[in-house]
Amino acid sequence: MNVRITGTGSALPGKILTNAELEKSVDTTDEWITTRTGIKERRIAADGEYTSTFAAEASRRALAMAGVPPEEIDLIIIGTVTPDFPFPSTACIVQDLLGATNATAFDLSAACSGFLYGLSIAEKYIRSGAARKILVVGAEILSRIVDWQDRNTCVLFGDGAGAVVLEASEEADHSLLSTHTFSNGAHWNLLFQQGSGSRNPATASRTIDERLIYLNMEGNDVFKHAVRGMEEAAVRALNANGLSPADISLLIPHQANRRIIDATAKRLGIGSERLFINLHRYGNTSSASIPIALDEANHLGILKPDSKLLLVAFGGGFTYASALIKW
Ligand code: ACO
Repeated sequence: MNVRITGTGSALPGKILTNAELEKSVDTTDEWITTRTGIKERRIAADGEYTSTFAAEASRRALAMAGVPPEEIDLIIIGTVTPDFPFPSTACIVQDLLGATNATAFDLSAACSGFLYGLSIAEKYIRSGAARKILVVGAEILSRIVDWQDRNTCVLFGDGAGAVVLEASEEADHSLLSTHTFSNGAHWNLLFQQGSGSRNPATASRTIDERLIYLNMEGNDVFKHAVRGMEEAAVRALNANGLSPADISLLIPHQANRRIIDATAKRLGIGSERLFINLHRYGNTSSASIPIALDEANHLGILKPDSKLLLVAFGGGFTYASALIKW
């Protein structure tokens, strides 16, 4: 059985936070943020907006494009590190919001690789015959776990969600050709959230140290591992399909940092004309970044029938992953 993406969707908060606005609250400059990261602005969720809000809206848009009613969905997978609650899963909340009454729903923790990990699991469900129609979503509200006083991290992240509908298909053309996932737990402590889990539970103190809640990152180390990991994941995808970088129509990388993306593309020999970038507008939205980019590229009409898309991600864990799609 082949696997086809039949719908894409994305949803972003309305509020835009520019680098110029950040200059007023932390010791930073538009020039520093732009040259070190490529980010110009990011979206920030408003009070009353949750991860499920954007996950559900992105899913509605993907379902509408696919022409699939919610009750036909067999499985909902949401990659997120900022769920509405530790439990129940945000996927169960989204199931309810959509009325996807026949779906099994769960969240997946793979940080910025969450969407591609989800795609990989969904692919296996469909190929095995266990499901025919699946929603895979990446959704985050990172603005609620970053320290807005820490210039090292607060300038990097943003909020939003992206979703795809995957369907079983008889056609070998226009399909998901492969997915690959990797983990390297030796470096779990280079990028993590210390507080609120079983090691530093919120119940341990009536006034849990707020800093434990914030995202913690060794930026320089993460940078080096990210470039190597994304290259490895991309090469594995190419080799598995007997393709070379010259065959790729568009590289859609996780949107973490312009310099990470450029270094990865350079190592692969993929020029800027075959590179999709939107992080200047959204910052790093973790698991949401690839499905948001895929949806934007789809709406821009730059995904042609037979385009070969290479998706690559890297994130906390460390986790990294790739997917090759014949559009
Ligand atoms: N504004 C102004 N100065 C800053 C800022 C800021 N926002 N942030 C840091 N600086 C300062 C530092 O304090 C340091 O000052 P010092 O030399 O006086 O100590 C100086 O700038 C250089 O800091 P570095 O950390 O060496 O800067 P670098 O060029 O490595 O860029 C960055 C930092 C952007 C975080 C980079 O390491 C990076 O992008 N790493 C990858 C991290 C990432 O993307 N993580 C996301 C999650 S993982 C993923 O999605 C792949």
